[in-house]
Amino acid sequence: MKRELVIVIDFGGQYNQLVARRVRECNVYCEIYSYKTDLEKIKEMNPKGIILTGGPNSCYEADSPTYKKELFELGIPVLGLCYGAQLMMHILGGKVESADVREYGKTEVIIDKTQSPIFEGVSSPTICWMSHFDYISKVAPGFEITAHTADCPVAAAENPEQKLYAIQYHPEVLHTAEGTKMLSNFVLGVCGCAGDWRMDSFVEESIRQIREKVGKGKVLCALSGGVDSSVAAVLLSKAVGDQLTCVFVDHGLLRKNEGDEVEAAFGPEGAYDLNFIRVNAQQRFYEKLAGVSEPEAKRKIIGEEFIRVFEEEAKKIGAVDFLVQGTIYPDVVESGLGGESAVIKSHHNVGGLPDCVDFKEIIEPLRDLFKDEVRKAGLELGIPKHLVFRQPFPGPGLGIRIVGEVTEEKVKMVQNADAIYREEIANAGLDKSVGQYFAALTNMRSVGVMGDERTYDYAVALRAVNTIDFMTAEAAEIPWEVLHKVTSRIVNEVDHVNRVMYDITSKPPGTIEFE
Ligand code: XMP
Repeated sequence: MKRELVIVIDFGGQYNQLVARRVRECNVYCEIYSYKTDLEKIKEMNPKGIILTGGPNSCYEADSPTYKKELFELGIPVLGLCYGAQLMMHILGGKVESADVREYGKTEVIIDKTQSPIFEGVSSPTICWMSHFDYISKVAPGFEITAHTADCPVAAAENPEQKLYAIQYHPEVLHTAEGTKMLSNFVLGVCGCAGDWRMDSFVEESIRQIREKVGKGKVLCALSGGVDSSVAAVLLSKAVGDQLTCVFVDHGLLRKNEGDEVEAAFGPEGAYDLNFIRVNAQQRFYEKLAGVSEPEAKRKIIGEEFIRVFEEEAKKIGAVDFLVQGTIYPDVVESGLGGESAVIKSHHNVGGLPDCVDFKEIIEPLRDLFKDEVRKAGLELGIPKHLVFRQPFPGPGLGIRIVGEVTEEKVKMVQNADAIYREEIANAGLDKSVGQYFAALTNMRSVGVMGDERTYDYAVALRAVNTIDFMTAEAAEIPWEVLHKVTSRIVNEVDHVNRVMYDITSKPPGTIEFE
């Protein structure tokens, strides 16, 4: 079955991934490509529609990102957003100029042509998110202005005969009240997509493809218990059953009971047909970490030891045909393969793994999916909700939530404190609304009093943040009663902790984790 495709051409805009996600929310499959992508390649993909993103440049400057005029002559509907809209006008003979003031923030847009297919079912005025210095002062020949704002004569324009549409604001951000409606009007209305891209069809199709590719081959997967590797493992297990072996390395730096939970879900008592190997390597990691307090050194040791342990297990299994990686679409885009904004990935869960295993090919079954889609696929596959909606947990685990040297005793302290914190956050009904929250163990010891005794014990730091992309974050406002209850339980129930602090630092300047 050939699936419908809409292409997002990326001009370096900060919302490029969001555009693709919104299109997929309309149940239309969508991929992001750099503006450097060849026109021939785009023609080959035969998309039902093309969306040009925003970007930080001025389209009239000589070395700004641009595209061949032929793109607009393919007969494929094109929607330009912000920079994309300006570029469309610039290339097709309109005029774009620098404005005296930047138009920024929520803005009232007045629709001049309510019959425009983009504005079907949209109210006028409607609130839209603007962010631009340049503006379209004259539309290209054949275009008609369809909306304006107090400061901007062309908030939207169209040339329906050529199926070309331009929007100055950002319909993809949630601040644009009816943005999703406008995008769905474009992909479903103008492009005529059927909107039948759904998770059940993704799961079915992936299982079929995996079976075809793997045949009778052997498959190896490093399972961490995190969302991506769990969904990848279950997908593989549904496709090829016990041809799949999952190795789960318990490095002793997991949250309380987590190792057993992963084993319960994926081990012999669990619901899936696969070979599950749990490696209890806790003591090996503690020994390697003894006496080490420098954060990067700790990360390096944990990463390297992980590879050593995995390698030993892989050797026991022998040569395999395929190695599974839980790569997801943002990793593909951020590594510069998809769109334009090449962010260097700083976090690696299993960095270097492919080098140490004897395999022929890598399988990345989630390569096309965003995180929320991975979760949907997980639910579709029947994976328990507590695994599907688990919050992010760093590869080095509690190793980077214990400031300074890691010892088994400290791991117990932070595990117990964290379990209490998570329990109370859930009791307060906050577990779905706070982005990421956890307890960390500071390296500080201070004096306290318990009963009639003087204590000299550790301080736990509680962290809770809200974030959209984990690149920036704000401390979450956890209600005082909840913090109070957590604090009193931690100092009473966790040995060697006599003080609890709440970290309200945002990122930047802080990071989410402590090390
Ligand atoms: P920071 O501390 O950099 O964290 O603000 C941002 C997000 O990334 C997670 N994180 C990691 N994830 N391996 C991972 O897989 C790592 O080494 C790592 N370090 C941080 C962190 O939990 C947060 O969600």
